[in-house]
Amino acid sequence: MKKYFTTALAYLNGKPHIGHAYEFVLTDALHRYYKIFGNKSILLTGTDEHGEKVMTSAQNKGQHPQEYCDEIVIPFKDMMNKLHAQHDIFYRTTDPIHKQKVQQVMQHLYEKGDIYKGMYTGNYCTPCETFYTEKDLVDGKCPECGRETKVIEEENYFFNMPKYAEKLEKHILENKDFVFPDYRRNETLGILKKGLVPLCVSRKKEKMNWGIELPFDKDYVCWVWFDALTNYLFGIGYPDNMEKYQDYWPTVTHIVGKDILMFHTINWPCMLMSLDLPVPKNIIVHGHILAADGQKMSKSLGNSVNPDDIVNKYGTEAFRFYILREMSLGLDGRFNEKFLVDRHNTELANDFGNLLNRATHLISKTFAGAVPEVTGQTAYCADFIEDFNKTLPLIEELLYKFELNRVLDEVMRLIRSTNKYLENTAPWHLLKTDLPLTGSVLYNALEAFRICSVLLSPVIPGKFEEIKKIFPSGFDYTLKFGSLQAGTKINKSEPLFPRIEAVIEEAVTPVVKDDGLIDITEFDKVQIKTVKILKAENVEGSDRLLYCDVDFGHEKRKIVAGIAKFYKPEEITGLHVLAVANLKPAEIRGLKSEGMLLSIKAGKNLRLVTIDKELPLGKTLC
Ligand code: MSP
Repeated sequence: MKKYFTTALAYLNGKPHIGHAYEFVLTDALHRYYKIFGNKSILLTGTDEHGEKVMTSAQNKGQHPQEYCDEIVIPFKDMMNKLHAQHDIFYRTTDPIHKQKVQQVMQHLYEKGDIYKGMYTGNYCTPCETFYTEKDLVDGKCPECGRETKVIEEENYFFNMPKYAEKLEKHILENKDFVFPDYRRNETLGILKKGLVPLCVSRKKEKMNWGIELPFDKDYVCWVWFDALTNYLFGIGYPDNMEKYQDYWPTVTHIVGKDILMFHTINWPCMLMSLDLPVPKNIIVHGHILAADGQKMSKSLGNSVNPDDIVNKYGTEAFRFYILREMSLGLDGRFNEKFLVDRHNTELANDFGNLLNRATHLISKTFAGAVPEVTGQTAYCADFIEDFNKTLPLIEELLYKFELNRVLDEVMRLIRSTNKYLENTAPWHLLKTDLPLTGSVLYNALEAFRICSVLLSPVIPGKFEEIKKIFPSGFDYTLKFGSLQAGTKINKSEPLFPRIEAVIEEAVTPVVKDDGLIDITEFDKVQIKTVKILKAENVEGSDRLLYCDVDFGHEKRKIVAGIAKFYKPEEITGLHVLAVANLKPAEIRGLKSEGMLLSIKAGKNLRLVTIDKELPLGKTLC
């Protein structure tokens, strides 16, 4: 099967940040997963180089915007290489061919009457490069980034979006997988329900000239978003390589952050409909990486994390593993260096590293480095192999549903289960009594290790290159248990996952006084936030626990709460309560819990601390 993935095109108004790094790695991992399951996947990424934001950054550096872009694009390419993020196409919107194609499209839509001249009065947010109507604004400011907008009143060109609203709504209703996750699909439907307005698609040159000139009016340039979105189409060959376009376009999945949902789930499909072209197959909308304190990262708050520094400190593999494993695809997540180190040490160094040593060590020592034959079975072998045979198709299915977190859960579970299999069969003891059976067990363990390595390769591609060296006669990528040939020579491996240490400047430790009182700095460490319980359900097999979906305002989380004896799920649905937001995530009965609902126990009763519904969600107790 063919597949086409795209990232958003990064604005070149500064160096790559952690959000870019996340999106590059996420898209690359999905692309690599598709490939290991035998698909022919292509990945497009690139840079969005026009618009006011880029122009201002260039002016601040005293450079021509093109000269500025040609320089600043380099760190983006370097970052991708450093992150082992592959790409087949690197698209730049200042490429002369792109400009020519954008003009052709504009001309076509102008002649068709879908682009027309009108009077624009409204507000423009430069950081977001977006036009807003008065009613879009929140407290008079940009609804997306909260910054001041500027009033623009000028004749402009408009794209007739409302013309396609009904068709788009029908498409979204009929195609459940058009937007992932589902709540972003609902958000899109919500925007459509409110009604679409014509989209302003030009900027007057005398005010902002860094863009593609409109072919039908040289006083204007194309609005940066209209120009940039077309990259996905032109990048795959439209209209000059129709064969490639026809092969890949129907398979396209755009991967974008939540802040640019509307451009991709509404504007872009309408543009495609106007061009009589098929809309994208799907759009994955990911959450944002927040600072460790749960706030948006910002240089002025001093809480931003530079991906380059993190990779320099802990390595590419630990960084990739952490962001893919820790971020729930779709939701926001906080970046926490300590968790990065914990994840690496627990799951890569301990679980996977241990498996590697155990699986290869005894083969090198006892079987002269040649993969032994399977001649028998222990009581554990059949179930163990059966688990792999069942899980491999499940992982593939989860992948096609973009359930990346569940894919990784399954892979890590297989690794743990192989370690357990080795503990149960204990080949290090067995070899004293039954060498052929020891060989069978080691075959299974090595085969499991080989398969788990392939399954982890999209996440830790650099380490996978080293793992391949264990098999000097060539690495077998087949995702089928039992493919490994007996007799294959293996090399003894070096420890591939040495433990890493957190290198963090520690905050001053607060002093706990003898009287049991705590310092304000210690209290400040606990983040108590206003939240809303969206849904709750009983935890299977427990009469004490409820599993709650909780809205923290800027993100949704799951919390396991020990309140089932005092509340029925439906009684707490919709309640506004307080929750501890910076509690280390825990796993309770196999369920991830990310916080704690505050309650008070009085005698035999327990009540949640409810709050005024007027208070906005996600606000911190002060
Ligand atoms: N240039 C537009 C996209 C045009 S696509 C035709 C743009 N560029 S951007 O550089 O601002 O953002 C690029 C991507 O990074 C977007 O998908 C955005 O959501 C994502 N991120 C920006 N900050 C982020 C985080 N803090 N966390 C995760 N991703 C975030 O928008």
